[in-house]
Amino acid sequence: MDLLRIRGGTRLQGSVEISGAKNAALPILFAAILSDQKSHISNVPLLADIGTTLKVLDSLGLKTEFHLTDHKVVVDGSNLASVEAPYDLVRTMRASVLVLGPLLARKGEAKVSLPGGCAIGARPVDFHLSALEALGAKFEIEGGYIHANAPQGLRGGVMKLPFPSVGATENALMAAVLAKGASQIQNAACEPEIVDLAVALRSMGAKIAGEGTPTVKIEGVAKLDGMKHSVTADRIEAMTYLCAGLVTGGSVTALGIEEASMTSALQILTQMGAKVECAKSKITVSSTGALKSVSFTTEPFPGFPTDMQAQFMALLTQAQGESTITETIFENRFMHVSELIRLGAKISTQGNQAKVQGPVKLSGAIVMATDLRASASLIVAGLIAGGETVIRRIYHLDRGYENIEKKLSGLGAKITREKEK
Ligand code: EPZ
Repeated sequence: MDLLRIRGGTRLQGSVEISGAKNAALPILFAAILSDQKSHISNVPLLADIGTTLKVLDSLGLKTEFHLTDHKVVVDGSNLASVEAPYDLVRTMRASVLVLGPLLARKGEAKVSLPGGCAIGARPVDFHLSALEALGAKFEIEGGYIHANAPQGLRGGVMKLPFPSVGATENALMAAVLAKGASQIQNAACEPEIVDLAVALRSMGAKIAGEGTPTVKIEGVAKLDGMKHSVTADRIEAMTYLCAGLVTGGSVTALGIEEASMTSALQILTQMGAKVECAKSKITVSSTGALKSVSFTTEPFPGFPTDMQAQFMALLTQAQGESTITETIFENRFMHVSELIRLGAKISTQGNQAKVQGPVKLSGAIVMATDLRASASLIVAGLIAGGETVIRRIYHLDRGYENIEKKLSGLGAKITREKEK
């Protein structure tokens, strides 16, 4: 297994190219199942989860090619030979449950392993199933698998989501585009990745309106052409680098990202005293000296993103006073707290609330990554900690960050990737 070794204390300066968004690329690649033609997807990030997604598509019989040098993927949808997403692939990447909607839409059936929980929560899929039931799908859970059927094909319906679930909205959207008649998703998630999926589906000939708002309307069509789409930039990756620059007292510019994708988080940075400059397709965040403590609550978009919570917690260990973080999206998303405490942070948690005292001088130590964004928070902390921080189990990190040590080194960080002895 690999580890990252960071020597803290250097000020980060400069610009960093932001890769395509993992959480847009995954549903968009699964949407290629909807067409029997070739789909061309560009700006695909080089990530472990993308590799897993292509393995799932291959296991369904679709031919996939990943042209690594130019971040392009071609999916040939002509030979959809299987409707089963096997346990060993789904358990490595729970987003594989996003094959449900496309398989039901195209083949009227699907057999998908239940994803199971992960470090940050139980992650049930009940909202996905109830949405697809509104389009006529029937489900049986047996042997750890979801057996889905729509013998007469999917028909249009109203899908009322109890919570604006990102994944459930994506499955609902990908099912409705080929359903007979009109559909609506009510209380839909509004994340930028949902909008990007809708744009990709529209390039296939799908009829969608209202994406990015709580009510999405879809007019089913009989057939979809191959997709031609370039994946939107990764707002979570971008914010991770902006936090890294700020925590070191430096100034970092994220290239290829739009302010609208992270307004709420940028407002918190401004409240903390950072200088935020937004221009067309780039955002610069610079330190202006001491950071002020703040309080924030994670919410569905456009609220503060849960995927940025851990990185901000690391940043807030350097802010003056007590900050309060309330996590409302996942029930166990404070796994990074005990690792940050190993670096000297003063954090206490009570239920879904964490209180962070600062500023605290952090000192390097060996820490362990537990989930994707927790790993990112340990990097942010390691960049400011005195001495050396070693982060183990960074396979979590490789799921969602392309070449993170190269990008950070490019900003002046002293960071190396090594094989665990
Ligand atoms: C997506 O997960 C992202 N993953 C997550 O990013 C992100 O944290 C999350 O959305 C919230 O923004 C991908 O896009 C691949 P949800 P998803 O359905 O779709 C509960 C990362 O770090 N829920 O919006 O699984 C659920 O348990 C990852 O990149 C149900 O109860 O998130 C959670 O508490 C982590 N039943 C809440 O809703 C359901 O059927 C939000 O989940 C579905 C969800």
